[in-house]
Amino acid sequence: MGFIVGPWLAQAVRAAVDLSLAEHLANGPRTASEIAEAEGADPEATARFLRACASMGLVAYAEKGFTGTELLAVLHRDAPMSLRDLAASQSSACLWLTWARIPEAVRSGEAQSTQALGMPFFDYLAAHPDEGALFGAAMTSMSAPVIRDAVEVIDIGDATTVVDVGGAHGSFALAMLAKHPGIEAIVLDLPHALPGARAAAVERGLDDRFTAVAGDFFKEVPQGDIMLLKFILHDWSDDDGVRILSNCRDALRPGGRIVITEIVIDDHAPGIAPLMDISMLACTGSRERTLAEFDDLLTRAGLRRTASTPVEPPYVVIEATAAAVGK
Ligand SMILES: C[S@@+](CC[C@H](N)C(=O)[O-])C[C@H]1O[C@@H](n2cnc3c(N)ncnc32)[C@H](O)[C@@H]1O
Repeated sequence: MGFIVGPWLAQAVRAAVDLSLAEHLANGPRTASEIAEAEGADPEATARFLRACASMGLVAYAEKGFTGTELLAVLHRDAPMSLRDLAASQSSACLWLTWARIPEAVRSGEAQSTQALGMPFFDYLAAHPDEGALFGAAMTSMSAPVIRDAVEVIDIGDATTVVDVGGAHGSFALAMLAKHPGIEAIVLDLPHALPGARAAAVERGLDDRFTAVAGDFFKEVPQGDIMLLKFILHDWSDDDGVRILSNCRDALRPGGRIVITEIVIDDHAPGIAPLMDISMLACTGSRERTLAEFDDLLTRAGLRRTASTPVEPPYVVIEATAAAVGK
């Protein structure tokens, strides 16, 4: 039953985010009527919704009204590594409507975003700026523990410019800037992602060493010493991945490196990795890959793997240089 009503639970979490329950209950108990009034929501429906949230362990009954639980606290917008934006995005139209076509994705082996959304996944996000911005914020939300580990394993040597290729709101680039005061960072992404990236840089006081540029990684990538590619290759087919990697290789300064951060999957991978693989199939027709499959892409793009370091499971940081270097 937990699996069968899983969609109800995911949408209830999204509604908890929409009603800002974590924020309303952050400083002690509130009644359903108080929350309904603050949100302009129907009082009786709000009381019934809070009862449902209590059954899920998001809230608990208090002497007067409801208190938030530890589970709810991770949805607070100011929580360390908050999951608020991720929860809202995962059950928003772009992913929800596409996942409803997983049977068709499995039967055809093809992406379903055009059938579900009327256009390819990233075109849809570009055409719907609110969902696009939410998706960018969700990437930041999902990335926090991976980035925390990845910045520790990347030895930047004498690099001066890091390029975050498809960097969304630039959370990886900004973490690199915060750790390495001598470098500058460029985020390359589609135009809809850039206001969020610039705002994040200003908010963290790192905008003097940060540039966000609109572009297409299938055409050209800005020059740099380190190319960060996090959660990019899993969106694309092997041929597309080779094109992106080749453009990154062409933009590498002498001695530069490509740093891929992705799930590395195998047949017995537990937890989220095989499910993410199916999500990739439905949304973009692509896949999560084994290390051997990454090596194959790298070789086809004229690159050579120099390191692979597991970070927050199931993610791995894979480093590569131009194949001719060091031969
Ligand atoms: C799955 S998100 C990953 C974002 C970020 N690297 C992270 O790990 O949080 C993929 C990103 O690629 C960007 N993207 C898609 N197609 C692109 C293209 N042709 N050129 C540049 N960026 C693109 C999307 O806008 C999105 O921000």
